Amino acid sequence: MKNTIQFQKMKKNSEKITMITAYDYPAAKLAEEAEVDMLLVGDSLGMVVLGYQSTIEVTVEDMIHHGKAVTRGAPNTFTVIDMPFMSYHLSIEKAMENAQQMMQQTNAHALKVEGASTNTLKLIEKLTEAGVPVVGHLGLTPQSVHVLGGYRIQGKDKETAKQLIEDAKKLENSGAFSVVLECVPDRLAKHISQQLSIPTIGIGAGKDCDGQVLVYHDILHYGVDFQPSFVKVYHQVGSDIKSAIQQYHKQVKSGEFPSREHTFVMSEQLAADLNL
Ligand code: KIV
Ligand code: NA
Repeated sequence: MKNTIQFQKMKKNSEKITMITAYDYPAAKLAEEAEVDMLLVGDSLGMVVLGYQSTIEVTVEDMIHHGKAVTRGAPNTFTVIDMPFMSYHLSIEKAMENAQQMMQQTNAHALKVEGASTNTLKLIEKLTEAGVPVVGHLGLTPQSVHVLGGYRIQGKDKETAKQLIEDAKKLENSGAFSVVLECVPDRLAKHISQQLSIPTIGIGAGKDCDGQVLVYHDILHYGVDFQPSFVKVYHQVGSDIKSAIQQYHKQVKSGEFPSREHTFVMSEQLAADLNL
């Protein structure tokens, strides 16, 4: 399993870091077999696998439930788990308690938090001090969607771009071992990546981040309603699944399934003994 020290080395050696989200056992297993460097149990699970409207509905319990399944499926892959909406804002004590629950119950290796508010920076410091590696998350931070005014590119003007650069440095100084940059212009992400000594992981942030992350269901086009422009679909799994289910449905209706090969056929002897 790769660790935070190796991720640091990968940045130094210009070796790209790969990360993909996973929310359950089979996805985690396949991602581990595919040898990705890092897994993210993202709170995107609210929308992707639970059908919620946004990540705001996601609870600590949801994250733990899915996090457990992921670490069982990928026991040998470094796994980061998102602290969900408001689970780290009520008080530092409550935040630390939630962090403890999430780490101890899921066996994840690190936590991810959004933004760079004073309280969040303090939390990152405390978690790092407690031995919990933390990933930051800047740019489009979906837990603040109602403040950002929608899911849109961030850092598009001078002021917000400068703020992002500052925030990234603050995260590094607070002890974060990596920062996700979501939906920011490529040259801003490149600049931040050059300024930081910790690796940046981009999503919709261009090719110059130290690593990339995408949502499992997005790259497979698996049950997704909306496809952001920065997503590359590697295989249209959704349509394959639908057509398999359609065939099953038709074959049951027509009597084609189950055929003899999918049946436990009774021996002639037993049939005779039972008069069947
Ligand atoms: O929840 C998530 O999937 C994420 C990634 C998009 C970075 O936070
Ligand atoms: Na997230």
